[in-house]
Amino acid sequence: MAPPRLAFLPLALGLAATPAAAIDKGQVQDLMVQCAACHGADGIARASDVPDLAGQHDVYLYNQLRAFKSGVRKHKEMQYLGRHMTDEEMQAIATYYSSLPKQ
Ligand code: HEC
Repeated sequence: MAPPRLAFLPLALGLAATPAAAIDKGQVQDLMVQCAACHGADGIARASDVPDLAGQHDVYLYNQLRAFKSGVRKHKEMQYLGRHMTDEEMQAIATYYSSLPKQ
């Protein structure tokens, strides 16, 4: 179960009605095309040094994205990708990957 602070979240990427201003779906999709290069479109990584994201807890994924963005968790590519992500985008991406089936 998602904790209350995530309860208002729309299911990612147009599965639920979202106020237009809340999140730019095109921007999220552009981001996720980049994620797929390493983490797989299905959230299953193709390389053994990249973690699977599918089925991971949404709060955990969101916290990791925040940690990359802030530099608390250090990784060159992830920090680079995360630098312009908004909180809403990170939440939507975390919700999306957590909804995918594990391998
Ligand atoms: C260039 C390859 C690459 C791309 C592109 C990439 N990642 Fe990553 N990602 C990694 C690697 C490698 C790690 C593991 C980092 C580490 O070792 O600390 C990682 C870690 C993560 C984690 C933490 C997972 C965990 O189990 O702790 C999340 C969440 C994540 N990436 C999300 C994303 C998202 C969202 C995108 C798209 C915006 C993205 N990644 C794009 C390579 C990539």
